[in-house]
Amino acid sequence: VTGADLTGRIALGGAGFSITADRDDDAAIAVIRAAYDAGIRTFDSARAYAPVGEPLHNELLFRRALAGCDDAVIGTKGGHWRAGTDDWRVDNRAARLRSDVDDSLRALGVDRLPLYYVHRVDLDAVHVEESVQTLDDLRRQGKIDRIGISNVTAEQVRAAAATAPVAAVQNRLSVREVRDAEVLAEAERLGIAVFGYSPLRAAPSAPDLASALPRLAALADDRGVPLERLALRGLLASSPSISLIVGAGRIVTAREGAAAEGEAWDSELDAAYAADRGLS
Ligand SMILES: NC(=O)c1ccc[n+]([C@@H]2O[C@H](COP(=O)([O-])OP(=O)(O)OC[C@H]3O[C@@H](n4cnc5c(N)ncnc54)[C@H](OP(=O)(O)O)[C@@H]3O)[C@@H](O)[C@H]2O)c1
Repeated sequence: VTGADLTGRIALGGAGFSITADRDDDAAIAVIRAAYDAGIRTFDSARAYAPVGEPLHNELLFRRALAGCDDAVIGTKGGHWRAGTDDWRVDNRAARLRSDVDDSLRALGVDRLPLYYVHRVDLDAVHVEESVQTLDDLRRQGKIDRIGISNVTAEQVRAAAATAPVAAVQNRLSVREVRDAEVLAEAERLGIAVFGYSPLRAAPSAPDLASALPRLAALADDRGVPLERLALRGLLASSPSISLIVGAGRIVTAREGAAAEGEAWDSELDAAYAADRGLS
């Protein structure tokens, strides 16, 4: 796997392959390969996506699954790890980020990481400028190609971008509701790509997608297209800066995610989606 360009606006996320107790590496590899075969080229990993005691599990899994796929880009993250079943830690100081980057280089078997994020900016006492400066030093040493920041505010985006060239912001974005409008506007203004994670995950208060997006659901029915696919397409249509990271436990879901990017989008769908999200 090499550091090819970021292509495509749907990425496959890896958290589910490594965090759950009933994980199955062979099944995960089949899903990752199916996503690649369906056209997905960007993959999202992290040190934190791990069984306890195996911090590189997810990166090693992606490496195995994508061996020989030279145009695949595996983005990964550090400064955040799993110390116990329900014990997640954050340390974004320079020493920690440096050793996490070295581990990821080894796990992925590359000389340079194509995209590396500070995973949890918001929970940390270390200012974002300091963490991004560390990643920029590693970028100058040739260990990182592009710098990312995750779980950030608009103010942190501004501060990070003033410190170093930031290529990507990764925050939660939902197909159901408007989130982080300020972060999106700031990233768009600064020419930074936004990777929205968990786009389909339900809030406990609104578990049912069709009742959250009734107008879009009616059109999905009329047109015989899955609502999830239209909802992902609608979120992509809402800003050219947005890409989405989808999770898939099943091959069919990975293929569905890939199909969202190429799905037709028109003004009728756009109006329905905007009205469902309270934007019109
Ligand atoms: N930076 C961060 O702090 C952070 C935090 C959370 C997540 N992430 C990243 O985001 C990735 C995705 O997160 P997520 O798993 O919460 O995302 P998600 O895609 O919103 O939710 C995944 C769930 O939705 C289902 N699903 C996905 N696409 C579907 C479709 N087209 N039709 C029907 N069902 C669909 C999946 O089904 P099946 O399992 O049945 O296939 C799975 O149960 C993670 O793996 C990780 O890479 C990053």
